[in-house]
Amino acid sequence: DPVKVNKICCIGAGYVGGPTCAVIAVKCPHIIVTIVDLNEMRINAWNSPDYKLPIYEPGLEAVVREARGRNLFFSTDVDKAIEEADLIFVSVNTPTKKSGVGAGSAADLNYVERATRRIATVANSSKIVVEKSTVPCRTAESMRTILEANSKPNCRFDILSNPEFLAEGTAISDLYNPDRVLIGSLQTPEGKAASDALVSVYANWVPTERILTVGLWSSELSKLAANAMLAQRISSINALSAICEATGANIDEVAHAIGFDSRVGPKFLKASVGFGGSCFQKDILNLVYLSESCHLPEVAAYWRQVVEMNEYQKRRFSKRVVDTLFNTITDKRIAVLGFAFKADTGDTRESAAITLIRDFQSERALINIYDPQVVHSQIWTDLQEASPQVPLDAIKKQVTICSSALEACKDAEAVVIATEWKEFLDIDWEAVYENMNKPAFVFDGRLLVDAEKLRKIGFKVTTIGRPTTP
Ligand code: UDX
Ligand code: UDX
Ligand code: ADP
Repeated sequence: DPVKVNKICCIGAGYVGGPTCAVIAVKCPHIIVTIVDLNEMRINAWNSPDYKLPIYEPGLEAVVREARGRNLFFSTDVDKAIEEADLIFVSVNTPTKKSGVGAGSAADLNYVERATRRIATVANSSKIVVEKSTVPCRTAESMRTILEANSKPNCRFDILSNPEFLAEGTAISDLYNPDRVLIGSLQTPEGKAASDALVSVYANWVPTERILTVGLWSSELSKLAANAMLAQRISSINALSAICEATGANIDEVAHAIGFDSRVGPKFLKASVGFGGSCFQKDILNLVYLSESCHLPEVAAYWRQVVEMNEYQKRRFSKRVVDTLFNTITDKRIAVLGFAFKADTGDTRESAAITLIRDFQSERALINIYDPQVVHSQIWTDLQEASPQVPLDAIKKQVTICSSALEACKDAEAVVIATEWKEFLDIDWEAVYENMNKPAFVFDGRLLVDAEKLRKIGFKVTTIGRPTTP
């Protein structure tokens, strides 16, 4: 008999678990979905009566409004949710290790292991356990070992890998209409039955030809590889942007021409000040660590270069700002527009803006920051983490967080666009120009604004992937 899924538990109410399982609840009204987290503040926010959810994601509020209290619940009672569920998503954080073996590249699996041990301790019936967090290859194997060594009689655990491919800012539409859903299982009858059970959940709204079932290890590796190849496209286009700046070619024209080749395709070829986000760098470093563990140093070096190119792109951009401002920005006011790692999210993890601002700080500039979504406390936390040796008081003397773009640009020498928020297109640039010191510089790190239009107003505009014009 195929296993029927009636109750789902999701451990981890973060950027992945929250939206994913909320959408499952909306699309499967017959399934009770409980999302649990140890972090009580986070759960309270998910439960807040006025829908002040812990993450900003377009369309998420409507999803939560539809299902919360009907078949979608948020709770800190992890044990109860585990006990009642037939299927458990493990969607906890897997940051890069900061110390110990593999520091700087290996994934910290402490949270995954703790969640797994909790499942083993609490479960009194058989469960399908689904690895949702991005994890190194063969983590499912460790989970299986832990579960089997600690299970009670008559409890069986089947492990699946079901990596999430949603991108922040478009999470809800990605979940509603995914390119594909990937499910990995052991190729045993039990493994395949568990896989079928999860397929039947997604089949409530995803066309079955988009649900790919593969082996456990292929599924785990595919997630790392997909992110590594996406990031590699950006590092490739960013490497080309440096050549454009030096030669006079235009990166937009080059990307457009390349993307017309159907073998390459037009998406994800936008030059930028550098990719950020919680996934790309972490997953590539995981792949590097995996390659090294497999004694494949050439493979490791190949992938590591994608991250190094990204670091270079950020450094190169802040140097261009300093160079253009007559080789010094000491005591000059720089407005940084955007702090999130991309538009339509309040997430700042690995955001290029953090690196740029740290560079400007070390040049002793004064920095005004404006971002439409990022909460101020997060900005302070990020800046403190980026410069651990500088006391927060000193950082606050140099950096001001502003509540509008116009305010941030007042009395500035230069505006730096670090995130491609649409609203930066609609800024009253004439008013910005009036309020700035002259010459007034704009540095577009996102190929966002119409440089010619700004030049007509009087700005000196520098754009990624285009030579500096006098
Ligand atoms: C990514 C993957 O897209 C997603 O499939 C995976 O599940 C998680 O990692 P995310 O990090 O949310 O998603 O955002 P994404 O849109 O991929 O952007 C990542 C970074 O690359 C951002 O900083 C973005 O600004 C940058 N980027 C993206 C570019 O610089 N140029 C591009 O052409 C595309
Ligand atoms: C290439 C470009 O495709 C073409 O646009 C350009 O004008 C000239 O260079 P070509 O070298 O004739 O054309 O053949 P192509 O089909 O691109 O293959 C190049 C090499 O890559 C071959 O050795 C091929 O076997 C190999 N290849 C191609 C792979 O190993 N894997 C693939 O998925 C595709
Ligand atoms: P992601 O981007 O992968 O979703 P987040 O950090 O946003 O990562 O979310 C992961 C969540 O998992 C956090 O809210 C964290 O509190 C939660 N978490 C970690 N370990 C456990 C655990 N053992 N039980 C319950 N929740 C956990």
